[in-house]
Amino acid sequence: MVEVRNLKKHFAVRGRGLWGKKYVVKAVDDVSFFVKEGESVAIVGESGSGKSTLIRCINGLVKPTSGEVFLDGEPVVGLKGREYKEKVARKVQMVFQDPTTSLNPRLRVFDIIVEPVLAQRRILKAHLVDIVNDLLRKVGLDPKLSDRYPGELSGGQCQRVAIARALSVRPKILLLDEPTSSLDVSVQAQVLKLLNELRQTFHLTYIFVSHDLGVVRNVAETVFVMYLGKIVEVGPTEKVIDRPLHPYTKLLIESIFYPDPDAEMRKPAIMSEAGMTVNGGCRFKTRCPFSTKECESYDMEAFEVSKDRSVSCIKWEEVAEWSS
Ligand SMILES: Nc1ncnc2c1ncn2[C@@H]1O[C@H](COP(=O)(O)OP(=O)(O)OP(=O)(O)O)[C@@H](O)[C@H]1O
Ligand SMILES: [Mg+2]
Repeated sequence: MVEVRNLKKHFAVRGRGLWGKKYVVKAVDDVSFFVKEGESVAIVGESGSGKSTLIRCINGLVKPTSGEVFLDGEPVVGLKGREYKEKVARKVQMVFQDPTTSLNPRLRVFDIIVEPVLAQRRILKAHLVDIVNDLLRKVGLDPKLSDRYPGELSGGQCQRVAIARALSVRPKILLLDEPTSSLDVSVQAQVLKLLNELRQTFHLTYIFVSHDLGVVRNVAETVFVMYLGKIVEVGPTEKVIDRPLHPYTKLLIESIFYPDPDAEMRKPAIMSEAGMTVNGGCRFKTRCPFSTKECESYDMEAFEVSKDRSVSCIKWEEVAEWSS
């Protein structure tokens, strides 16, 4: 359904000051994966690991530096205009983190929801009313809210509107970029529950981005762990949480259950490190309690260690032992 092949997105940025040195941030650095129809996959990693850039390459919001993206076997990179609408916008929709900024504050809920539909085809107003009412009910909102503006709704209601809008074109795939991070914990749980129900009702495929493995546990069967532009671990969500194989995954899990911002290993990766990884070795080595001399010469792709799990760490057996 969604295939990403050797995808790279590098940004040339300039350091501070007028004469700041130019360097390259490898936001996505040679990522490949396949998501089956109806599957729900989570991409997890801390801030700056390249999650948003990766999913924006999938729906064409960001043009990759190199590599390919296929939807239903059709290439999407470089599509424009009508072709883009037909091959991408009808199949893939996105839900963003903060509905208060992703929804146009000057439009009523009704117009917000129908906008993507009207961008694709002409349709009678009476039909639009039916479509909107039906969608609002499906996302658990009263159709009466269709006259309101986003500013008159709660955060949770706004996110439900954003989901209704995404569903309005009957897409097959939803890209969800931290869809619950801006919400209160109790509302977060309700929205996650709604997303699970909608996936069944509409037979959707999800790619769900989050920095929180705890959130992902309830919505995704499979998890991709991303670190500085690379996927470092892949596996069934439950198994990965129970017994991580990459030291970085272990760190992410610990940070859910024992948050301690002062811990040395938890310091976020600095941006220049992203551009520096070519200097050799594993990109996690500077933060890794397992790292030894060998790790200075390996910058490996994730490799299969069992039927359903892959990891990009030569010390994975030690990590696994420590995890169990
Ligand atoms: N347009 C851009 N120009 C330059 N650098 C960029 C651009 N967009 C992203 N980056 C850099 O690419 C890296 C990955 O960013 P990205 O937004 O994909 O991370 P993320 O995993 O989504 O983070 P977060 O959890 O904070 O949303 C970061 O170092 C970021 O600064
Ligand atoms: Mg992001």
